[in-house]
Amino acid sequence: MNALHAVLLLCIGASTIGLHLRTTRSASNFVSFLGDSGVPMPSTKRLLSLAFEVGRLKNLTLAHGTFYFAPHSQEVEIVPNHEPSWNAVQRELLDDEIVDVERERERCARYNFKLADEANPRRRRLFMGALIGDDSMEVLRAVSTEAYDIYHTVSFIEGFQAHDLSHREMNYYDPTTPSENLNTLLQLFGPKTKVSVDYYNTTMTELVGQHGSLFMDFVGREGNTHRWAMNGMKEDDVGIIGDADEVFTRDFLRAMQICDIPEFRKGQSCIEAQVKASTLVYESSPNCLTRDRRWFHPDAILGECVDNVGNATLHPPTKRDYVDKHGLEMEGYGAGGSDFRPNYTLYHKDGLVPSNTYPLWHGTDIRMKFSGSTYGKNDGSATGYHFHNNFKSAEEIHVKYATYGHAKGELAFKMPMWALHPEDIGLAVDCANGKGDLYLDFNNSGGSALPIYYLNEDVRNKRHQHWKSIVKDEEEYWSKKIDAMQPLENENKDCWMVCGEKSGECPHFCGKNGVCCQVGAINSAPECVNRTLGCDGRECCVAASNVSNGSQ
Ligand SMILES: *[C@@H]1O[C@H](CO)[C@@H](O)[C@H](O)[C@H]1NC(C)=O
Ligand SMILES: *[C@@H]1O[C@H](CO)[C@@H](O)[C@H](O)[C@H]1NC(C)=O
Ligand SMILES: *[C@@H]1O[C@H](CO)[C@@H](O)[C@H](O)[C@H]1NC(C)=O
Ligand SMILES: *[C@@H]1O[C@H](CO)[C@@H](O)[C@H](O)[C@H]1NC(C)=O
Ligand SMILES: *[C@@H]1O[C@H](CO)[C@@H](O)[C@H](O)[C@H]1NC(C)=O
Ligand SMILES: *[C@@H]1O[C@H](CO)[C@@H](O)[C@H](O)[C@H]1NC(C)=O
Ligand SMILES: *[C@@H]1O[C@H](CO)[C@@H](O)[C@H](O)[C@H]1NC(C)=O
Repeated sequence: MNALHAVLLLCIGASTIGLHLRTTRSASNFVSFLGDSGVPMPSTKRLLSLAFEVGRLKNLTLAHGTFYFAPHSQEVEIVPNHEPSWNAVQRELLDDEIVDVERERERCARYNFKLADEANPRRRRLFMGALIGDDSMEVLRAVSTEAYDIYHTVSFIEGFQAHDLSHREMNYYDPTTPSENLNTLLQLFGPKTKVSVDYYNTTMTELVGQHGSLFMDFVGREGNTHRWAMNGMKEDDVGIIGDADEVFTRDFLRAMQICDIPEFRKGQSCIEAQVKASTLVYESSPNCLTRDRRWFHPDAILGECVDNVGNATLHPPTKRDYVDKHGLEMEGYGAGGSDFRPNYTLYHKDGLVPSNTYPLWHGTDIRMKFSGSTYGKNDGSATGYHFHNNFKSAEEIHVKYATYGHAKGELAFKMPMWALHPEDIGLAVDCANGKGDLYLDFNNSGGSALPIYYLNEDVRNKRHQHWKSIVKDEEEYWSKKIDAMQPLENENKDCWMVCGEKSGECPHFCGKNGVCCQVGAINSAPECVNRTLGCDGRECCVAASNVSNGSQ
């Protein structure tokens, strides 16, 4: 046994934990990333560094920028630094490698499906794709535990630019020194899964297309289907697009592999093609499960309909709002139906396309379009989880809202985090303080689907305590700041955005005695005294009326 094998075994040994995990890797996969002699270099870290230098990576230049494709987790030597510590309950749920027909039949029945092939049950391969940015390791541990060793491929794309096209600090790419984050990420999804972080560098100098602020998001996802094709995706495989903090439940992932799901039957026209999740939303902590609300990502689709994988003669390209092969579909070429439904009137009218087929789907189409079906468990439980805003510091939350889609720019640093997004972060702040009733704690979710990673009370409590400490620090910071302010600040200045898109008290911007109001605005806060306070036609900071204060 040579040194390389020893490292491999070590790595596999660390993650076995009683599961039926077997490696499918062969030493030959590694050769291209070893030193000239084929002998492993003394330091794995140096190996990583050499292998990931951008100038050495396969690249693909498109109209809007270049993708760089790095080696995936089975092509590089990994320094084992991730040892999942699962308890007995978690291990039992993760131990589902062997196909037991009766168990799979029951699984399918939980979603009102039948087995796809009773005589010869066979699992479909699942290819996952997402963009990656400042998502915390906590989130990545949660999503990867759920899907441990299930995916064939996990494709991440990291952009050199933020959503506003400003330069961003890379979390995974590092040309000169090895990236610890990358080394960890490559292990999280289990040894059977090919994990990669590929990179995207845009040549665009301004945001274009419909929803320009999401331009980076939309073109970045194009890289996911290129990676899937590189990794050998076929027409009968399934592609899944999500954000890095979203995942289908493990039970539903297994169901998608083996059950007869209409959207995954052979011979798709590729119009009603998505399998959408019914997703629980955890805001910042596993003990802050949003009550009465389901999200609808991630989305899955059959390989037949995936760009670079399906048959482009049968499903020719459509017209898109940013040059033909990129951006969102144009009206009549996919977009523009009522209720977000697809509209391909002009696509077919052009006469170049078989009348009963539709174009192949980009990563962005898979995320953005509304078609196909949303599946829940037949007991009403979820089929997906969204670990939203699960950041490790208040600073990261402010940065997110300053730079990502629908960005607030510098304003994001002038408002407390609960004002950044009153519905989501506001709820998580209330939850940390035990106020309000719009959330449920983990123990009390009322459904039969629970994220496997958080079926560990210590892990759960640790995250919840961490979230509480983030909230406490943020509250102290703003309370000090507000104490030092004048009773009325920013008099007559616009305040709608910075006050969290609501009227009324807004001490962090208008001062302790100021209110943010617009004369005559409907749904004004009571502090606007019967719509009498404020500026004409816009919300601005004005002195609170003593009458109103007195009457409350
Ligand atoms: C892409 O790779 C080729 C060689 O593989 C190289 O010549 C070219 O400069 C690269 N393009 C970019 C944009 O990095
Ligand atoms: C990204 O592209 C710009 C030009 O568009 C170039 O100046 C820059 O060096 C590129 N960055 C990387 C990391 O390749
Ligand atoms: C793609 O579809 C065209 C049109 O139906 C067909 O002629 C061709 O054989 C298909 N190609 C493959 C590789 O299946
Ligand atoms: C579909 O798009 C065409 C072209 O824009 C438009 O004329 C038609 O009204 C649209 N149909 C629906 C149902 O929205
Ligand atoms: C969850 O339930 C356990 C056992 O009933 C209890 O000890 C724990 O405090 C609960 N956690 C929360 C956050 O309510
Ligand atoms: C609010 O305005 C309405 C109509 O102008 C008036 O009838 C009502 O008394 C006012 N309420 C208060 C509390 O001033
Ligand atoms: C409102 O109350 C403040 C503080 O009590 C006082 O200084 C101010 O004169 C009052 N303004 C009016 C218009 O009554």
